[in-house]
Amino acid sequence: MSSEGKYLLYNGLLAPKETHSLESFKFAEEFTLKDDDVIGVLYPKSGTIWMQEILPLLLNGGDLTPIQTIPNWDRVPWLEEKRLAEVVDQLPSPRAMVTHFPYHLMPASFHTSKAKVIYVMRNPKDILVSSFYFHQMAEFLEDPGTFDEFIEKFLEGKVLFGKWTDHVKGWKDTDLGDRIMYITYEEMVQDLPAALKRMSDFLGRNLSDETIQKIAEHCSFKTMKTNTMSNFSLVPKVYMDSDKSPFLRKGIAGDWKNHFSSEQLARFTLVIRKELGNESSSLPWSLD
Ligand code: A3P
Repeated sequence: MSSEGKYLLYNGLLAPKETHSLESFKFAEEFTLKDDDVIGVLYPKSGTIWMQEILPLLLNGGDLTPIQTIPNWDRVPWLEEKRLAEVVDQLPSPRAMVTHFPYHLMPASFHTSKAKVIYVMRNPKDILVSSFYFHQMAEFLEDPGTFDEFIEKFLEGKVLFGKWTDHVKGWKDTDLGDRIMYITYEEMVQDLPAALKRMSDFLGRNLSDETIQKIAEHCSFKTMKTNTMSNFSLVPKVYMDSDKSPFLRKGIAGDWKNHFSSEQLARFTLVIRKELGNESSSLPWSLD
């Protein structure tokens, strides 16, 4: 398959054809969100699969059945992916979904509903590294080229779901009020029980410390790596080759330090800082 053949373009955003279609985007556009829906919003490689593990457990009080019996893509489907139409009728209530959509492409019903959003932000340098390896292992994605070339593509937004800076700016500047909660991947790595407590309170769940602890154990990197319903081992090797790079690769903050040269870092920081404008000062981590 030629690389052009692997992606489709939807409102200026690239998405893999393997999992998306123009029909699936139309389905998302016309999708009716309910007031008690919960949506995890993440730019790709910011911890989406992690949220697919976390959300059902927070919403059902720690019952492990969904994470042990339903593959992540059907358990907490992507709003924009083909699978949603297949599984939507089987989702338990309250429904949990994830999306990579920028704010301005959310369905009209989202704005009139009371659906809640947890927006997870990750250091863009670690996103880039994670994405670089993901492009090497996933057959349905373009070859990333060299690390240097991939940095340029990322900065130009010629990557899945466009520019990271646009995603962050759009979701930081919403009129959602207390319907949106912001958290970082780094906070989750540093203290998962505290992050889960914050999410559970936001969702009005009021879970005991014991339940939070149990959920944290089952959502740890180590446990998820062995969960066949979440580590993509159900996907044939021709599509995702974990020998090239496992999907659950390192699960840490700061791996970028092992990949960026000082020149690459300077260029990356300059562009990101310029594009974010005032928003750069409110970031939870230093861009340098
Ligand atoms: P790395 O490649 O840096 O390891 P997404 O699900 O949005 O594609 O993001 C994938 C990234 O989230 C990968 O990062 C993956 O390892 C990380 N991740 C998934 N589950 C995690 C967990 N339980 N703890 C820490 N990181 C996790």
